[in-house]
Amino acid sequence: MIKQIIKKIPFIKPIATKVKAHHEYSYDKNFFKKNYSHSSPTKAKIGYNMLLISHSLEKGMSNKNPRHFGVTKVDELIKLIRDYESYGNYENDFDFVNAINVLRNYARFYETKKWTDAKEYKKVSDFLKNYSKIKKMNVGSFVLAKKDFEKDATIDYSRFLASRHSVREFSTKRLDEKDLKKAIETAILSPSACNRQMIKVYYVSDSIKSKKVIDAAQGFGGFEKDTINTLVVTFDINANYFIGERNQGWFNAGLFSMNLVNALHSQGIGSCFCQFGNSAKQEEKLKKLLDIPSSERIAVIIATGYYCDRCTIPYSPRKSIDDIYRKR
Ligand SMILES: Cc1cc2nc3c(=O)[nH]c(=O)nc-3n(C[C@H](O)[C@H](O)[C@H](O)COP(=O)(O)O)c2cc1C
Repeated sequence: MIKQIIKKIPFIKPIATKVKAHHEYSYDKNFFKKNYSHSSPTKAKIGYNMLLISHSLEKGMSNKNPRHFGVTKVDELIKLIRDYESYGNYENDFDFVNAINVLRNYARFYETKKWTDAKEYKKVSDFLKNYSKIKKMNVGSFVLAKKDFEKDATIDYSRFLASRHSVREFSTKRLDEKDLKKAIETAILSPSACNRQMIKVYYVSDSIKSKKVIDAAQGFGGFEKDTINTLVVTFDINANYFIGERNQGWFNAGLFSMNLVNALHSQGIGSCFCQFGNSAKQEEKLKKLLDIPSSERIAVIIATGYYCDRCTIPYSPRKSIDDIYRKR
């Protein structure tokens, strides 16, 4: 009651907004500082750093006119691999297997170029002697021939996109996890910065928890709430390498989520994004509820489910290209 009265005093609102903004931005800053990849080391952060360097070496192997490369990077990667191993239970981890295979390919690359006298080659090949049992993965570079993808890339994409609409009611049939996983497998093909793949998807299959998520988020007005299958998309700040990457997670989550929604649509599954505009405190509460690791941020919620035979939706008219496109 008192809160409501105070809220109505004209000069209170801008002050309250300022205080709130300061609080939320401080939280973002401190969260980033505490969790980005150069904060106190953890297995996950080392893993992301391994992915980053591995990808950089892969790019070196894709160079058309390569010279000796990666001299300091292989040193760094070997050190990271050793640090990573110290946490134990690593042999099948993606980050680790990827790194070992990148070093294997690096050595092979040097061999084909007959650069085997190079110090970095010797270092890598010596290091790899103890890793012959680690499973193989396609890394390095390959030749992409236009004719190999042309056939697959000729779908009527704009027609497909035009057929997707946000829907806010779904069939009462619960989402089959197999269908969801299939769509996620497709979304995994999304690009990510330095191939670090920092996105996670949580399917809140527990109806009580799902209701709590829906009640906590702000954008679920007008939804047939009982029909929603709730997904929470997060990103891991552990993957972010420097302050310039402070918004990297949001962007990567956007790319991933859009592909996920399109993949769902291609499988006859509807969806609607629901913005996560909650306070840091509410975010922490939801993370606790869903057992989401502390280094992750919630990017967006996706309400999903099989399409109803008919449903009424807003037109959501689009701006024209003249409103969007600028030539400079
Ligand atoms: C990041 C994002 C957040 C959104 N949040 C909400 C939301 O909270 N509630 C809602 O009903 N729709 C939400 N939407 C859906 C938009 O209203 C919808 O995408 C837009 O009107 C375009 O319509 P269409 O998706 O049918 O093409 C969101 C969409 C995006 C991309």
